Amino acid sequence: MVIHVQSVGKKFPDGKGERWVIEDVSFKIESRQATVIRGPSGVGKTTLLNLIAGLIQPDKGEIELNLKDSSGPTSLNRLNARELLRFRRDHVGFVYQFFNLVPTLTVKENVLLPLALTKREHLRDQALDRLHKLGLKSHLNAFPTQLSGGEQQRAAIARAVAHEPQFLFADEPTGNLDAENSAEVFKLLWDEHERLGTNLVVATHSDDIGAYAAHTIQLA
Ligand SMILES: Nc1ncnc2c1ncn2[C@@H]1O[C@H](COP(=O)(O)OP(=O)(O)OP(=O)(O)O)[C@@H](O)[C@H]1O
Ligand SMILES: [Mg+2]
Repeated sequence: MVIHVQSVGKKFPDGKGERWVIEDVSFKIESRQATVIRGPSGVGKTTLLNLIAGLIQPDKGEIELNLKDSSGPTSLNRLNARELLRFRRDHVGFVYQFFNLVPTLTVKENVLLPLALTKREHLRDQALDRLHKLGLKSHLNAFPTQLSGGEQQRAAIARAVAHEPQFLFADEPTGNLDAENSAEVFKLLWDEHERLGTNLVVATHSDDIGAYAAHTIQLA
């Protein structure tokens, strides 16, 4: 088991008080199992993904991630802000619906950024090869706004996997793309998941993506 979520809850302020968005969610994900999180809009898919990626902390329950070569599980709740930052930086790749490339950096700089942050410069050639394979060779020195949505998302995936993280999380990665680009982007996520053996969790409405996954977490 690589991800263990136990009775997790998260509440957010709403108008007058607070509202439990996720009340009591538990599941296990086995190593290298591609998983989708599904459910209607507003049910808490993004929130759940942000929780297991360590971007936000739960208000109850526990989230454990098992790293390769580690003697025991890492409990995200027990990490302080600095440890959590390091954990995300070293072991997590995240793909967003709206691409989220750094606008002031070129495509190449965006993709090489995680290597600098994690001191994994030895992965540089692979990261650049991947950009070539993705058809972005002529866009290496372009800025994100000069790319189409599909191109930006391919670059964003190249960035998310550049440092070969053990966990790859994607929140509606094809939500902003047409059918053709969606299929391509999902295939890309899938290929990287298989090639790197990274644990892939995708929050999506897409049935196409759902069909690929070994495991589905259905929220309400
Ligand atoms: N930071 C926040 N502050 C207050 N409320 C929040 C916050 N983040 C999320 N929510 C609320 O939590 C609920 C779940 O949001 P979430 O984004 O997780 O849903 P979702 O399932 O991803 O929806 P969608 O399919 O539309 O992306 C929503 O009602 C949202 O307004
Ligand atoms: Mg969402």
